Amino acid sequence: MLTEEQNELLCRVGPGTPMGELMRRYWVPSLLSWELPEADCPPVTIKLLGEELVAFRQTDGHVGIVGARCAHRRAHLFWGRNEENGLRCVYHGWKFDCEGACVDMPSEPEESNFKDKVRIPAYPTYEVGGVIWCFMGPAEKKPAPPLFAWTQVPATHRSMSKVIQESNWLQALEGGIDSSHTNFLHGGLPPGQKHDESTAMGRARNRALSPLVEVVPTDYGFSYAGIRPVGDEGNYVRAYHWIMPWHSYLPGGGGNGGHMWVPMDDENTMVYNRSAVFDDPPEEETDSRRSLGGGEGFGPPTPQTGDLPLWLRDANRPQGFGNNFGQDLDPHTFRSFRNSDNRYKIDRQVQKTETFTGIEGGNTQDRAIQESMGAIADRTLERLGTTDRAIINARRALLKAVKTVQDGGEPPGVQPTYYKLRAYETVLPNGVHWFEALKEKLFMRGPRVAELVTDKTAKS
Ligand code: FES
Ligand SMILES: [Fe+2]
Repeated sequence: MLTEEQNELLCRVGPGTPMGELMRRYWVPSLLSWELPEADCPPVTIKLLGEELVAFRQTDGHVGIVGARCAHRRAHLFWGRNEENGLRCVYHGWKFDCEGACVDMPSEPEESNFKDKVRIPAYPTYEVGGVIWCFMGPAEKKPAPPLFAWTQVPATHRSMSKVIQESNWLQALEGGIDSSHTNFLHGGLPPGQKHDESTAMGRARNRALSPLVEVVPTDYGFSYAGIRPVGDEGNYVRAYHWIMPWHSYLPGGGGNGGHMWVPMDDENTMVYNRSAVFDDPPEEETDSRRSLGGGEGFGPPTPQTGDLPLWLRDANRPQGFGNNFGQDLDPHTFRSFRNSDNRYKIDRQVQKTETFTGIEGGNTQDRAIQESMGAIADRTLERLGTTDRAIINARRALLKAVKTVQDGGEPPGVQPTYYKLRAYETVLPNGVHWFEALKEKLFMRGPRVAELVTDKTAKS
């Protein structure tokens, strides 16, 4: 439960709000590289942290992200002409470069120097991992580039899609770090009965409906685990990362999934859905190749489908993550065709006989239920349980980070200590603490530890 003030503080992200100021200390995922496929291609309109912006790829390939409105009389620059390293407003021809400077003003007398005094907002950009990022904070606070591990693998080893969620960003984040809902929301019937019973992991996921959630605070946010007993065999551990303020890593299929929940404004969030396979040491290569669908790999997403990576298309994969991965959406607006207007195409018969929700696709299930909480959930009325531990910790960390920035300090997750993270899942013997045991896996640092998996079925 939060007070009304705390809830407001965490959910409002516009310029000048405390949370907005915190978020402006990080690189903001802004759009996917393929949205601007070539130099001088048409600009696209985006919304970040309550600000309307336009992104365009210049003649030299660099991406500019500028305020959406022309400085002259506020025409929208989406209609503009992208020409010779600048965006020209089609109303009276004023032209702006990627730094927001007005570089041409043909509607004024030639001898006028008025253009030198005119600017529009502009944010520095960085492009890596198939994503264009921008920094909306004070220039002197710009962090090291966002070189997450998944940005460093070849394009054939990662995939990213995005879809709009019509709710505040915090609901989306909280759903993403809530490891207990998967048994239910994403479950079959009865809840959870959908995983392969021949593996310890599958049995644990099917049967343990109340995972023990443990959180280990770190300098970038926290690492946390959902721990499910497998009888005498030990514990099935799903270990994740949350990186301030909007990144997650989750394990699966020899690779890693994850999300970024980027506020468009207070009531809309762009949800980025990611998968990646890291370069594994030789002994794990077989697993990764299998996950990639026999070594075929998968290409970058396409505008039409968001492209479902092969390892997520695998019929044996649990439905909870990845199915409906960016599919079925309008490639221009990024709104899913399964949305609140058509009740996410819920099938009550399927709900009666096959799945817990009757809604198809894990991401659609998440979106449906998180949007149902209201545009901004009223957290003064909620009743949190033991499995909400990660959520409680995230709120606490965010509130603290807001205060840190207000006091002139540097929030967690700005320093690049997150570069080598990955999530991991395995079965550990009883009595072994997951964080100690999995450190080398979770941080991809140092010498490899001895094989930790005692139940070999856990790796297949
Ligand atoms: S409104 Fe853009 S040039 Fe006049
Ligand atoms: Fe979910």
